[in-house]
Amino acid sequence: MNFRAQHLLSVRELSSDSIEEIFAVAEKMRPYANRQKVTRVLEGAVLGNMFFEPSTRTRVSFGCAFNLLGGEVRETTGLSNSALAKGESLYDTAQVLSGYSDVIVMRHPQSHSVEEFSLGSRIPVINGGDGPNEHPTQALLDLFTIKNELARLGQSIDQLSLTLLGDLKHGRTVHSLCHLLSLYSGLKIQLVAPEALSLPSSYVDLLVNAGHQVEIGSNLEKGLSQANIIYQTRIQEERFASAEEANQYKGYFRLNKQIYSDHCLPNAVIMHPLPRDSRNNANELDNDLNKEPGLAIFRQTDNGVLVRMALFACILGVENQLSKHERNVNWHVGLRK
Ligand code: NCD
Repeated sequence: MNFRAQHLLSVRELSSDSIEEIFAVAEKMRPYANRQKVTRVLEGAVLGNMFFEPSTRTRVSFGCAFNLLGGEVRETTGLSNSALAKGESLYDTAQVLSGYSDVIVMRHPQSHSVEEFSLGSRIPVINGGDGPNEHPTQALLDLFTIKNELARLGQSIDQLSLTLLGDLKHGRTVHSLCHLLSLYSGLKIQLVAPEALSLPSSYVDLLVNAGHQVEIGSNLEKGLSQANIIYQTRIQEERFASAEEANQYKGYFRLNKQIYSDHCLPNAVIMHPLPRDSRNNANELDNDLNKEPGLAIFRQTDNGVLVRMALFACILGVENQLSKHERNVNWHVGLRK
């Protein structure tokens, strides 16, 4: 895929080469994301950041990524605050809003809604999550993090032994990640979920057909024991018919320091797309892990900015002009590493 002036709706559009291209550009973004340098390469450009489902890090990191490239961000949040609540079609909304921006990011509760929206858009649209279907940019930043974490441990992606843990049925980040993993072969993948929340068979087939060694189970300790990367997910309560149904699975898996030290490989990396559910009835990833060097969840969120900056740069065709528009920051660079 050549990103220039294209939509990014699904990870299915991505080839290994195009992913490597994005990751190479993401690496070039570090000095800007770390606030050592400023680039104004997107000065004057406008992002329409449209979030019709709850979001903290995806919405803010897209906005932050665009700002860090010098562009401006306009936010629309909440279905009830938009004309969609008056019966306007996604097509019409897209026709209108694409006249006001240079690129749009959209999140919406229905599967394939972002694709439908893109049909009415005159500018590139990035899928920020469409219901339980896909979350392509999260999968990209997850893969970027997996590669970086393995490199930190002196390992490569061929040595990946990944445990996907939690609500694998509804988790769109897992679904998109499975597609990206299917571009590789010969990896070890453990799928650990309550039986009713197991990974849909189409994704299991995708992994098996790619030549991965896939194990399926529901035992936490066993599922963790071989993994060099653990990817925990939240019970996606908003996708269940009722709160009671979702509540049955809250707290089903609780990963904490004790379990980590007793059952995981030394230095195993813990990832989570976040938010982690820290309420007492769930506590899926305990705060007592916060100081573990293997806990990569906040490195993952930092990586989200790099990858989203890279996507904007490639889609808007400025990936080779970053340094031309660059200067040192005026302020004292504080505690950031
Ligand atoms: C995820 C999502 O929205 O799918 N969050 C995110 O974007 N980082 C995962 C979740 O909500 O559990």
